Amino acid sequence: MVNLNIFSPFHLGDYILPNRIIMAPMTRLRANSDGTPTELMGTYYAQRATAGLIITEATMISPLSHGYMNCPGIYNDKQTEGWKLVVEKVHQQQGKIFLQLWHSGRISHPALLNGELPIAPSEISAVGHLHTPIGKVSLETPRALDIKEIPLIVEQFYQASVNALNAGFDGVELHGAFGYLIDQFLQDSSNKRTDEYGGSIANRSRFLLEIVEAVRGVWGDKKVGIKLSPSNTFYGISDSNPVNLFSYILNVLNDYNLAYIHLMEPSDIDLATGNVITSVLDTFKNFYNGTIITNGGYDKSKANDVISSEKADLVSFGRPFIANPDLVTRLEISASLNETDGKTIYGQGTNNAEHGYTDYPFLT
Ligand SMILES: Cc1cc2nc3c(=O)[nH]c(=O)nc-3n(C[C@H](O)[C@H](O)[C@H](O)COP(=O)(O)O)c2cc1C
Repeated sequence: MVNLNIFSPFHLGDYILPNRIIMAPMTRLRANSDGTPTELMGTYYAQRATAGLIITEATMISPLSHGYMNCPGIYNDKQTEGWKLVVEKVHQQQGKIFLQLWHSGRISHPALLNGELPIAPSEISAVGHLHTPIGKVSLETPRALDIKEIPLIVEQFYQASVNALNAGFDGVELHGAFGYLIDQFLQDSSNKRTDEYGGSIANRSRFLLEIVEAVRGVWGDKKVGIKLSPSNTFYGISDSNPVNLFSYILNVLNDYNLAYIHLMEPSDIDLATGNVITSVLDTFKNFYNGTIITNGGYDKSKANDVISSEKADLVSFGRPFIANPDLVTRLEISASLNETDGKTIYGQGTNNAEHGYTDYPFLT
């Protein structure tokens, strides 16, 4: 039997990933204010191109999907052209890169939406604050989507995935995690609809599945991934029966020949609620037949364990990639990791764009 570890290559559809270390999607808020990716973002991702696969930060699929200042978009030509340059830089370094498609839904504010109310499945506010051009604000009660508007949002996901194809990405990941719009439809604390998009688990999953169909229509087999976070409590999201909900979704997703399912484990904050599934991978892995990326709190040893025991196929690392562009090499030779500067994780308001972004040192 072959002894697998995080440095074993992996066949992801047509692609051969040189290792199983995936860069998790991370919002860094360094795009231009109109959502255009910058050249520096290309440098940042290219520096990390030794990852088996890079998944980009959450990227807006429409103006109303705007959740944070300086997050990137892919809903117009200018943004798409900006991403094209980012992808080219990653490909020049032989990297592979998927774009994360995102709608923030109720995690937004009129100050980010030209005065419009954020949209959501139901008129239920999330819990928390946001930074906006008018300062730090509490989240407002969103407007419930009219059923006639839902196909328009599916269409926006479709168009954004066409734009991602034109920008040269290797695939896309749908952001179905963290209490954003897709997750707001899935979980019953945020979805109280009485039409065919609410109520039963099948109804609450309909929005996600319509988006999957649309985006798969653009990308085909093994090029579309989905991130899910059954134990995440971000901005107050929860479900009364997450085991039933997410096992149902995984079962149905078996039919779509996706690139992968990206399953996030609970954070310490989620675990502190005392009310979440403590091992997402153990609970859900048997419901899905395809490729699984596991995520959340991995180091080299835990990652090797989960790969060698074949509980998951790939492991994504988030925070360690912020300060370690050469994380793959550092893990390989068990070198120490650079420390992350907490003040520059998010770029909003930073004067020196490179600082804490592209100036972390490589091993010499
Ligand atoms: C600064 C930062 C930004 C993040 N942004 C995103 C994002 O845009 N999309 C997403 O799905 N997850 C996002 N996450 C979550 C990470 O992808 C990952 O799930 C989380 O950090 C746990 O993995 P880790 O323990 O390896 O860091 C973010 C995490 C961090 C630390």
